[in-house]
Amino acid sequence: MKLHVGEKIKVSVDSINSQGDGVARFGEERFVFFVPGALPGEEVEGIVRILKRHYGVMELTDVLTPCVNRVIPKCSWYGLCGGCSLQHADYAMQLEIKKRIVFDAFMKTVGKEHLDKIQDCVPSPKKWCYRNKASFPVKRGKKNLNVGFYMKGSHRIIPINSCCILEEGIDYIYRRLLENLSYLGIEGYDEKKGTGILRHLVLRRTARGDKAVILVLRNFGKKEERSLRSFMQRVSEMLGKDISFYVNVNPHKGNRIFGERTIAIKGKEGLSESICGKRLFFGPTSFFQVNRDIAELLFQEVKNALEISGADHVTELYCGVGAITVTYGKNVKSVTAVESWPESVLFLRKNIKLNKLNNVRVLEGDVEEFAPDALFGEDKVVLLDPPRSGCAKGVLEGIIERRPKAVIYVSCNPATLARDVSILMNGGYELSFVKPFDMFPMTAHVESMALLTREKLQIARYDKGCS
Ligand SMILES: C[S@@+](CC[C@H](N)C(=O)[O-])C[C@H]1O[C@@H](n2cnc3c(N)ncnc32)[C@H](O)[C@@H]1O
Repeated sequence: MKLHVGEKIKVSVDSINSQGDGVARFGEERFVFFVPGALPGEEVEGIVRILKRHYGVMELTDVLTPCVNRVIPKCSWYGLCGGCSLQHADYAMQLEIKKRIVFDAFMKTVGKEHLDKIQDCVPSPKKWCYRNKASFPVKRGKKNLNVGFYMKGSHRIIPINSCCILEEGIDYIYRRLLENLSYLGIEGYDEKKGTGILRHLVLRRTARGDKAVILVLRNFGKKEERSLRSFMQRVSEMLGKDISFYVNVNPHKGNRIFGERTIAIKGKEGLSESICGKRLFFGPTSFFQVNRDIAELLFQEVKNALEISGADHVTELYCGVGAITVTYGKNVKSVTAVESWPESVLFLRKNIKLNKLNNVRVLEGDVEEFAPDALFGEDKVVLLDPPRSGCAKGVLEGIIERRPKAVIYVSCNPATLARDVSILMNGGYELSFVKPFDMFPMTAHVESMALLTREKLQIARYDKGCS
């Protein structure tokens, strides 16, 4: 096969990868091409942009035979912004694709004999305007600050001024801030040199109506405080008096958005939210599920799984501010809740009190730091909700060694979920089911929940509302 970069070729797309890109095979060698924007079943034309030994990447120029599920993307920045890479598929197809992504991850690591355990993807109640949080990177521009979203696969900023997956309230705040940002008087960050000050603009809003602006700065002194206070005076009127402003100081190089120090400049100590009928608070830098409405369905599924597995004693690792804990806490005898982010632990303790749970023991620190016998035992059910990287090996080894009767695993990364499920299955656990949830419509991301037990379970379905 003789191909070169810049050449125009035709291919038939037969599947989709975990990034949401079409996958096509070319020539007799069936050389793999990834084609962003193409859907399975389509014949497309495109330009070869990258050629590696085992795969290539094409830029889509023409869809010769469009799939019936193809739709016109709603967003003006589609294709440029790294965010919503599935906007060209209708919603039914997006759900199929997400199930497929979970399926492929399990096929690779867990094995094809377990694929029947993967259920259909639960749709999001909202397809657009669902995100209650947005993080906009900021850089020093030639004249002004450069604010927007990262371009796919790079740290180049696409200067967008509205985003249709953000809750309208957040989008409104973003637009007003953008119009006034030139009055802020704080210079943008230079990632390469590690100079400049303003790194990120993070906006959050809850269904209870709390709103927060968090400015992530490389450092925060008297000069920045003066600039921020006069900026706040200017924008507070148009954003509403109830908006809170925070500064988070992140002096570290690298991609992590938040640093350890947060200062409340104006407004409330935290944001309040309701989930599954429970009231909760979380801090400006605490993790909170970005799509509240589907999080309620996910938490209900977790609660059902706890019931099915006969949980009396639960160890909940990576519990955040206790959003799941408060939904099931009253139904079990004891909970050991582990979280490492200090601000989240502060709000976790507050939420436990607020929801009158007197059976929760909080352990602050990295899960890996606690001895397995402080966390696991045969009478326990373990609930895991780790970050994208999944669980540390030592945590999974601790589970296998101490034999808790069930493991409920919530994950935002099918690849690490499949890897960890496979380790647990090799350690004697049986996979009951995996349920994908469309936490992130229009994107190729998918949340899932898996239930593993030591003995095969007779699974009854529960269709109770949150209580
Ligand atoms: C995906 S979030 C889940 C939070 C919570 N279950 C929820 O739904 O709101 C993962 C949480 O794990 C915490 N975390 C990350 N690494 C950790 C570690 N090694 N030990 C303990 N907590 C950790 C993060 O701070 C974050 O709050």
